[in-house]
Amino acid sequence: MAFNFITPEEAAAQINHLDSIGTSGFTAPGSPKVIPEAIAAKALKEHEAGREYKVNIFSGASTNQHLDGALARANAINMRAPYQNTPDLRQRINSHDTHYFDRHLSELAQEARYGFIGKIDYAIIEASDINDDGEIVLGTGAGNTPTWAMMADKIFIELNEALPKELRGMHDLYMPADPPYRREIPIYSPSDRIGSPVLRIDPRKVAGVVRSNALDGVKPFTEPDEVSKQIGSNVVNFLLGELHAGRLPKDFLPLQSGVGNVANAVLNDLGLANDIPTFEMYTEVVQDSVINLIKQGKCRFASTCSLTISDDMMREVFSNMDFFHDKFVIRPSEISNNPEVIRRLGVIAMNTALEADIFGAVNSTHVLGTRMMNGIGGSGDFTRNGYISIFSCPSVSKGGLISNIVPMVAHADHSEHSVDILITDQGVADLRAKDPVQKAETIIENCAHPDYRPLLRDYLRLGKGGQTPHALQAAFAFHTAFAETGDMRNADFSRFA
Ligand code: COA
Repeated sequence: MAFNFITPEEAAAQINHLDSIGTSGFTAPGSPKVIPEAIAAKALKEHEAGREYKVNIFSGASTNQHLDGALARANAINMRAPYQNTPDLRQRINSHDTHYFDRHLSELAQEARYGFIGKIDYAIIEASDINDDGEIVLGTGAGNTPTWAMMADKIFIELNEALPKELRGMHDLYMPADPPYRREIPIYSPSDRIGSPVLRIDPRKVAGVVRSNALDGVKPFTEPDEVSKQIGSNVVNFLLGELHAGRLPKDFLPLQSGVGNVANAVLNDLGLANDIPTFEMYTEVVQDSVINLIKQGKCRFASTCSLTISDDMMREVFSNMDFFHDKFVIRPSEISNNPEVIRRLGVIAMNTALEADIFGAVNSTHVLGTRMMNGIGGSGDFTRNGYISIFSCPSVSKGGLISNIVPMVAHADHSEHSVDILITDQGVADLRAKDPVQKAETIIENCAHPDYRPLLRDYLRLGKGGQTPHALQAAFAFHTAFAETGDMRNADFSRFA
């Protein structure tokens, strides 16, 4: 069956107010580009004409400026899940123009199949290649695409001609059966393949194919600053200590690394550490640093959900496909982030916190407790199931006005039950086999910035019993001091004594 080639505007014309759209990709890579921009343009026209027009967007993770950026600027998103990281959309979420539910990335696909988010009207899928039998080779991010393709009434394909045909064979698409029929997911090593290199869809569901040719626009990371370098070196020293103590096998375990500047710096440092053996990754995003590790031979193989790499790095990968083709597999997020597989492989989980409290709880999502930053992403999937779960962050933010180690987190994403190791530029707090007070003493002395240690010790002394001796009347004194004076160092615990 030959596909019908249409314009982005013709696709957008078919999408109605409050339709639910499942989009391909995971972070910018693999996310559609030209149809979302046409939907945003249509929304602006509808709004000018005094008509309501918003759509529900369900993706794999964050997307790109063409999708979340353009739609948010047009105020065209009603409901959004499971993750985002675009400033304009963040603003819409925090001002309640857009509803947002922030979910563990491994879970949204199955929840959609269970019927928890209603029907999917359209899937918009970026492809690097298609054929008339309904075989689609995806772009460089898989996300929840197989589920959206299966559930959607109609499918639009964005055939991205900037993507090389050699991407065929890099994906491994597998959708588990839903309970009560689910069996084990048979991945026993990061490079195991269990699914199909292509997405098979019913060609009769394709409402049109649109051509595009843009890369993803991922920006390269800036050179890590001193604080990030210190965190990276603390992570590497911790892992070396575990190896020497025999708590990690000699040939190491697969690594997962989170997103952001700190995560990138940690991976750079791993590449420089001669005593760390070569390793594999079982992770959800591959950033530029992983490509460098692969080129150095330090990382032998990476299982991922997307290649979230800068455009320059992407061009380099595309022009050396012979070398890179067997170094990656791109999986859907319910597999890349699957709790069963993460637990089985013994993945070392390394994620970044906004703030952590002295008892080991972590806030990854809400700045100062209320403003959504990005979302939990895959950090919960990996942290709860990792062999060792590490969180890192700078000890302070905003030049020291904010301590990232606080008496009590103002929003809890990861409880102390899941957090094994906390690492800042100041040092490492090993929380394993410690009770809450022992954890607090270790975090204050090893991770908090020296300016904040006396204040945190004062807080710990205020607690009057109970296994976790919080002093509830003073638990948010750091946050209130920042709100009232712009500096957490002005927290005064003497008034609570
Ligand atoms: N209070 C207020 N602001 C804070 C803060 C705190 N405790 N900690 C950091 N910030 C601010 C920083 O000052 C910075 O602000 P700026 O953009 O104005 O400079 C911003 O938050 C980002 O901080 P940075 O240290 O550069 O963070 P990062 O790029 O390493 O990202 C997270 C950190 C937590 C935002 C990011 O890792 C994330 O979204 N995590 C959740 C999802 C996740 O873990 N996914 C990975 C799973 S694979």
